[in-house]
Amino acid sequence: MRPVLITGGAGFVATNVAHRLLSSGRPVVLFDNLSRPGVIANVNWLRSVHGSLVRFQAGDIRDAEAVRRVVAGASQIYHFAAQVAVTTSLVDPFLDFETNARGTLNLLEAVRATEHRPSVLFTSTNKVYGDLEDVGLRSAGTRYVPADEQLRVHGVSEARCLEFHSPYGCSKGVAEQYVLDYARTFGLNTVVFRMSCIYGPHQFGTEDQGWVAHFLIAAMRELPLTIYGDGLQVRDILFVEDLVDAMLLAQEHVEQLSGEAFNIGGGPANTISLIELMRLIGELRGVTPAAAMEPWRTADQRYYVSDSSKFREATGWRPRVGVTEGVSRLHDWLTETQPVEYGVAVRQVAS
Ligand SMILES: NC(=O)c1ccc[n+]([C@@H]2O[C@H](COP(=O)([O-])OP(=O)(O)OC[C@H]3O[C@@H](n4cnc5c(N)ncnc54)[C@H](O)[C@@H]3O)[C@@H](O)[C@H]2O)c1
Repeated sequence: MRPVLITGGAGFVATNVAHRLLSSGRPVVLFDNLSRPGVIANVNWLRSVHGSLVRFQAGDIRDAEAVRRVVAGASQIYHFAAQVAVTTSLVDPFLDFETNARGTLNLLEAVRATEHRPSVLFTSTNKVYGDLEDVGLRSAGTRYVPADEQLRVHGVSEARCLEFHSPYGCSKGVAEQYVLDYARTFGLNTVVFRMSCIYGPHQFGTEDQGWVAHFLIAAMRELPLTIYGDGLQVRDILFVEDLVDAMLLAQEHVEQLSGEAFNIGGGPANTISLIELMRLIGELRGVTPAAAMEPWRTADQRYYVSDSSKFREATGWRPRVGVTEGVSRLHDWLTETQPVEYGVAVRQVAS
């Protein structure tokens, strides 16, 4: 059996996808340059649970030849390797572009060069819709609420105009357009997920990316927290197990879904503001963490909630894990594993 290839295979989403595939007996190759601090712990954990069914291949998505070699043996592909933070993209736009845009083109060209043409699921971002400055909002206690009822009830759909904002938004946006076009122009089987905030076990959250895990880790370690903006900003958050369900469905139905982009998130039923997350953490831990306030960051959205009805209608998928349950499960996992898995990552992030 050809293995499933996961690029960025040591990362948070990858580890959860790999664990599910490996648990069903499918061999998996993890391709990663380990540039995210701490993620080697994920590889070690997958190896300890699944033994030789999982193979780690050190490599860089910017290296076209290495990508070609690893793609040649794959049955299907989850393409997650990426520069994942807006902040880093502002500091080093070339690194961001080379990794996200060029790296994705390397992957697509490698797939095009095979005879068996493995299907590709690509993870894009809600940042391709820009900062949504035009969305009318009012503040209601601990959060922003959209003035428009359609948006309030359903969230942002794929009909929203694209507006790549920040180098990260541009590089991801370019990449997803290539992924969609390679279905159109070359007949590859490709699907794009435009994802909102994903959270769950194996996430090495930092201030730059993975804010739910970052807030929890900071609270547990009594590290200082900063809120950029006013804390009323709202996101729909999606527990990673629900995302894995969606990803497996996308690969299962790839011929029907190919060439399409889908907004994937927790949706209107699973929203939370930063201040509300602080309060929830306070309920879990008995102490509400303190935070310093700083000005808004570039491309920050005050309100983003996914309308995932296009994907739901195509596959029947819907999220099952609610915000309170999911945050509590992530908290439990961090509490159980932090001495082993988090020591290194948090020290690296904190220093
Ligand atoms: N987690 C979220 O909330 C979220 C939201 C929207 C989109 N996404 C996208 O989903 C994907 C997975 O996100 P994640 O949260 O698991 O991130 P992650 O940082 O945990 O995983 C990404 C992995 O890619 C690896 N990587 C980085 N540069 C690489 C390179 N040049 N070559 C090979 N590997 C490289 C990193 O070492 C890391 O293990 C990413 O593409 C991300 O942009 C995530």
